Amino acid sequence: MRILATGGAGYIGTHVVLDLLEAGHDVVVVDDFSTGERQALARAQEIAGQTCEIVASDIADGAVLREALQGVDAVIHFAAYKRVGESMERPEHYFRNNLGGMATLLSAMVDSGVDRIVYSSSAAVYGTQEVLPIPEAAAGRPDSPYGLTKLQGEQMLEWMADRRGWSATSLRYFNPVGAHASGHIGEPVANGANLFPRVLDAYADARKALTVFGTDYDTPDGTCLRDYIHVCDLSQGHLKALELTEPGHRAFNVGTGRPHSVREILDGFERHTGRRVPHTDGPRRAGDVPAAAADPSRFHQATGFEATRDLDEMVTSAWRWFTQNTNGYR
Ligand code: WQD
Repeated sequence: MRILATGGAGYIGTHVVLDLLEAGHDVVVVDDFSTGERQALARAQEIAGQTCEIVASDIADGAVLREALQGVDAVIHFAAYKRVGESMERPEHYFRNNLGGMATLLSAMVDSGVDRIVYSSSAAVYGTQEVLPIPEAAAGRPDSPYGLTKLQGEQMLEWMADRRGWSATSLRYFNPVGAHASGHIGEPVANGANLFPRVLDAYADARKALTVFGTDYDTPDGTCLRDYIHVCDLSQGHLKALELTEPGHRAFNVGTGRPHSVREILDGFERHTGRRVPHTDGPRRAGDVPAAAADPSRFHQATGFEATRDLDEMVTSAWRWFTQNTNGYR
C-alpha cells in the first residue's frame, strides 16, 4: 500500500514508518519538523534499507496535502501537539493545530478520494475514570484541552465514516515508552516531562534529579499506576489497524492491561543499570489520576494484536537508545 504519515518524523511516527517500510509499503511523510527529527527519519530508512518520500510542511497547507495524497491508499495521522501541561497554558494553539490541522487533512482526503485513516488518539480522552481497566465504552471526559482535541478528532472521524463511508480507526495510546531494538531511534530526552525521559535525564545529570509525584496514593506502593506500552508494540498496532478496511469508525485502547507503578519503573532502571536513579519523593502533581490501565481486549479481538514486550524490554531499550545518543539526534 501507499501510506501518508502526517507527523511521521515524531517519536511514534518514526517507529511506524520504519515498520511500514520493512513491511514493503510505500511511505510519504508530511512533517513540519517543529518537533519531529530529520535524523530520525534518515535512520529509520537506513535500518529498513528502504526510502520514503519526505514533504516538509505543516498540515495546515491543504494544497501540499492534496499533492502528497496522490495515489495514497491510507493515511496515518500522527501530527499534533501532545503536551498536556502546555495545552492548559495555551489551549487555543491546541485547537488550531490539532483540530484545525486535522480538518484541513480531512478536506484534502475528500478532494483526493482517500477514504481510509488511522488516527493517533490518546488515553487522555478518558480523563478520570472510576472503572479500571478502562473499556472503550467509558464516556470521554477529558480534563485537558489536549484530551479534548483528541476526543473531538475521533468525533470528526465518526461523522466522516457516517456521512462519507470512510474506514476510520482511532488508536487510544496509553503511555508509550522505550525505543527501537537497534538503539538508533527513540524519544529525545530533551523532549519533555514524561517519566521515562525524566529518568534518563536524571541519570545524565544528577542535578536534574527526578521528583516522584506522590507517594501517598491508594495503590500498592503509594505511587501512581500507568499502562506503559513499548513503542515497538504500539507501532505494530498501527500495521494491524491498517488492515481494517470496513466502512465505519472504531476506537481501540492500545495498552498492555498490566499497569506498573512509578516505583516499579525506577526499580526496573536500577536493576538494569546497577545505579540508583537520582530522585526524591515529592508531592502529587496536579491533574494526575492515581491509576490508569487499558482494557486491551477489543483491539485484540478485532485484529489479533497483543503487546508482547514487558517492562524489562521497555527499560533496556530506553537505556540502549539513551546511552548511544546522549544528545538525542544532535
Ligand atoms: C507517568 C507517571 C507521574 C514524571 C501523559 C499524558 C497522556 C500521554 C502520555 C499523550 C505519573 C509520574 C512523571 C516525573 C513522576 N500523552 N512522574 N515524576 O501523565 O501518565 O500521561 O503522557 O497522549 O495523555 O497525560 O505520563 O510520563 O508524565 O507520567 O513521578 O518527573 O510518572 O506522576 O504517575 P502521564 P507521564
